[in-house]
This record gives sequence, structure tokens and C-alpha cells, in this order.
Amino acid sequence: MIHSEETASTIPSSALSGDLRARTSLLHDQAEALLGLPDSITSRSEYADWLAHFLAFYDPLERAFGAFSKWDILEPFSTKSTHSRRLIRDLGALGFDLRALSHAPNARIPTMPTFAHALGARYVLEGSALGGKVILRNLQQRIGAEIAGATDFFGGVEPAPSSDWRVFKKALDRFGDQHPEAREDVLTGAEETFRALLDWFEPFVAQKKKMVQPVCCGNSLKFVKTFPPNFLDPVGAQK
Ligand code: HEM
Repeated sequence: MIHSEETASTIPSSALSGDLRARTSLLHDQAEALLGLPDSITSRSEYADWLAHFLAFYDPLERAFGAFSKWDILEPFSTKSTHSRRLIRDLGALGFDLRALSHAPNARIPTMPTFAHALGARYVLEGSALGGKVILRNLQQRIGAEIAGATDFFGGVEPAPSSDWRVFKKALDRFGDQHPEAREDVLTGAEETFRALLDWFEPFVAQKKKMVQPVCCGNSLKFVKTFPPNFLDPVGAQK
């Protein structure tokens, strides 16, 4: 209830980070359900395939962030060390030919007409690192030895506060308070980024599911693995 001495201008607006969470929570659930991580990764080669698919989305998006010069408003949160760089490091550690990455297909990324849209997109990328730690704990229990030394993307390696989620959220809230007119663009930027990510991963996940197909064998159904080419092949891999 509004107290009698309060005016509309003294009522604190809701935090932008809270609005972002509320507006994208359904999309987050859809992404979580579609990706099916961590269970969808069962081997080192699949792990690499997933990392490469993430890279094809994160890399063009993070490059597009470079068109904006206002990122220092997030300080002390740092945007210097990118998720793409961590992905490339992991793929290199797994023995993948990094030159091939530049020929890999890229995802269609959302248009970001303003810095506010890009900030919304960055919210999606930074938030995804929270889930990454949960995913990595599970992967380490199942295939830890196979992916040792190649876990920077899911694990995150930057020291706080440069990569601290709370620091990032505070900066978001500051921006939302200082630029109320731009809040809707931040929200739209985040929604469109989630949608682009879903579009990018949908065919990939469908292809992965096709790799395990039921075949009729006598009167019982057996599951066999078919092997469409991986997204990227390890250096020197036989075709
Ligand atoms: C690429 C796909 C994903 C994206 C883009 C994504 C994005 C996000 C974002 C933006 C947040 C921040 C929510 C907030 O505002 O508090 C978040 C939080 C979180 N996500 Fe995801 N996520 C993804 C996949 C997953 C998956 C597969 C899992 C499950 C293993 C997961 C688990 C979590 C968890 C545990 C949190 C923290 C919730 C909290 O502490 O409040 N996410 N994610």
C-alpha cells in the first residue's frame, strides 16, 4: 500500500535485474529443457561438439558487443575476458583445429540497435555461466578425466569481482535506475537473445537425438548409434 506522504516519484522502481529474470524465466526454462544439459553430454567428443556449437553463437554475439563503447559502466565487472575466448581455449585443449573454427557456420544473432539491447543480450550470456557451474560438477563426476584441462567455459576462471554475477546485477540495476526509458530495450534484447539461442540449438539437438535411433531387430527394439559428422573434427581425424 502507498503511504500518504509518498508520491509516485519516491516509490522505488523494481530492479531491472528482477524484471529481466521475470520476463525471461519461461524462455530460460525452455532453453534448459531443450539443451537437456548436463545429461546430453556423455563423451569427450560430444563435449567438444557442444562447445563448438556454443562458440558459433557466443562468438558473433560477443563480436557484435564490440560495436558499443559503454561497457565500462559495468565496472568493476569486466567484459575483457570473453566466453568465446574460454570456449576456444577449451577446444584447443581438447585437440581441435582452431583454424577450422573460423570456417564453422555461425548462428543468426539478434539485431542490437542500441546499447540497451546489447546489455540485455549480455545478461543472457553472463547468466548462463551460473548454470555452467552446475553442469560442470555433473560432467566432472561422469567424464571428468576425459575433459580435464578443458573446462574454462562451464567452470569460469576469472577472479571476483570481475566475473561476479552479483556485481553484474548491481550494474544492471544502476543502468535501469539511471535510464528508465531504456529498460524495455534491455528486456527485449534479452528475450530476443534467448529466442535466437533456442533457434540455433533446436536443429543441433534434433540431430543429436537422431544419432540414437530405434531399429527393429526381431521382435524387440534396439537402440543404435548413427554417426553424422561432428560439428568439428579433431586435428588429424579420419573422415
Ligand atoms: C544456454 C542455455 C542457458 C542460458 C542462456 C541460461 C541463462 C541463465 C540466466 C540469464 C540466468 C540468470 C537468471 C537470473 O536473472 O537470476 C541463469 C541462471 C541459472 N541457470 Fe541458466 N541458462 C542456460 C542453461 C541452463 C541449464 C542447462 C541449467 C541447468 C543445469 C541452468 C541452470 C541455472 C541455474 C542453477 C541458475 C541460477 C539460478 C539462481 O541462482 O537464481 N541454466 N541462467
